Amino acid sequence: MATSMVIGTQWGDEGKGKIVDYLAQKADVVVRSQGGNNAGHTVVVDDKAFALRLLPSGILFADKTCIIGSGVVVSPKVLLQEIENITSQGVEISKIELSTRAHVIMPYHIRIDEADENLKDTSKKIGTTKNGIGPCYADKVNRVGIRVIDLMDEAVFKEKLRYNIDTKNRLFEKYYGVQGFDYDEVLKEYLMYAEQLRPFVKDTDYSVNTYILEGKKVLFEGAQASMLDLDHGTYPFVTSSNPTAGGACTGSGVGPRRMQNIFGVVKAYTTRVGAGPFPAEQKNEIGDLLRNTGHEFGTVTGRPRRCGWLDTAVVRYAAMLNSLDYLAITRLDILDGLDKIKICKGYTYEGKELKEYPASLKVLEAVEPIYEELDGWNTDISQCKNYEELPANARYYVERISQLVGVPLGIVSVGPNRSQTIVLH
Ligand code: GTP
Repeated sequence: MATSMVIGTQWGDEGKGKIVDYLAQKADVVVRSQGGNNAGHTVVVDDKAFALRLLPSGILFADKTCIIGSGVVVSPKVLLQEIENITSQGVEISKIELSTRAHVIMPYHIRIDEADENLKDTSKKIGTTKNGIGPCYADKVNRVGIRVIDLMDEAVFKEKLRYNIDTKNRLFEKYYGVQGFDYDEVLKEYLMYAEQLRPFVKDTDYSVNTYILEGKKVLFEGAQASMLDLDHGTYPFVTSSNPTAGGACTGSGVGPRRMQNIFGVVKAYTTRVGAGPFPAEQKNEIGDLLRNTGHEFGTVTGRPRRCGWLDTAVVRYAAMLNSLDYLAITRLDILDGLDKIKICKGYTYEGKELKEYPASLKVLEAVEPIYEELDGWNTDISQCKNYEELPANARYYVERISQLVGVPLGIVSVGPNRSQTIVLH
């Protein structure tokens, strides 16, 4: 393994954190290349849970280099707090490199995020985490964003901050009807962050490529998931970055030919947070059972997640978008108590089977899932250590997923701990 990548294939919360953590054991470098502190992985090490929002999951190993790439949007406050939290729990953390080209989340981004979402009707709400991620990416695209390198140069920072505070304050006053920001206060706060962040700042476009050329093992860690991809997901109920394999290239400065071993993380059933179409959703006792057994409630918000059967139409689409090499199936143990398990194989629309994943949300809302019913295994699989120990019905279930998606199995996860991981390749 020279490089490898972990990508979410559904709508997030697949358990990518655990898979990244597992693969990170063998990596020298772990890279995050998109999103921000809207992610929220949970990694369990020796029964101790660590909530990571911005830092790559490899951070819990002292001997790794963790890179926050150019495609990430960074809240200095959250990053510094996260470093402090982990360190104060006695964990010796990895070496951190923060890209000079990453964009900085400013307080006005957070306020725009809140104000924008509050203006929308309930059905139009995106379900943003209100961390300022979307408005920060919007500024990046509008070419008025502030990058880490700008924050490191007081004169450049002052000029960019002045422009942004002036324009945003007009927007707050005239459009949103909320209070704006005081330039001096923001300047003071961010210059303090600048000094605290300076030791981590590096041109990571060069460092990550150098590590690859030196033969170091580099792992690219995706946050969010394929169906939340800004270009390919269920727009507009998506995130503001590209959590697909291509996004890992642009967000790290590494060309596509260097990307190998792309793992697609597939939760053994489907969940979704917030609004947007979800064809395999089970608004019934099955959905409740998956939610309760799987503790499917938002990590930050506590909101119940929408739950349904595994949808292989979604995963097949993700397999294509990301040129997946392997599937990493997680949370198989959550299905332990079910007599019968259904898999969604595809959809029909107006009586005809769809061959492609629809771009139209109107169509997606009207599709009928085509299900296949399988026998459950009705056994606790959480202690299974290798593939042969899994009950035949559990093996059949994961093999059927692999067959329907057209991607070989790489990992099957039967519990949150590192030790509850069955590796197949
Ligand atoms: P996002 O980037 O927010 O999408 O996060 P994520 O995909 O890393 O998922 P998250 O960590 O939020 O949620 C997964 C939860 O499932 C965590 O609490 C994990 O410890 C746990 N988990 C991961 N794999 C398994 C598994 O195989 N079985 C069980 N029971 N829990 C698992």
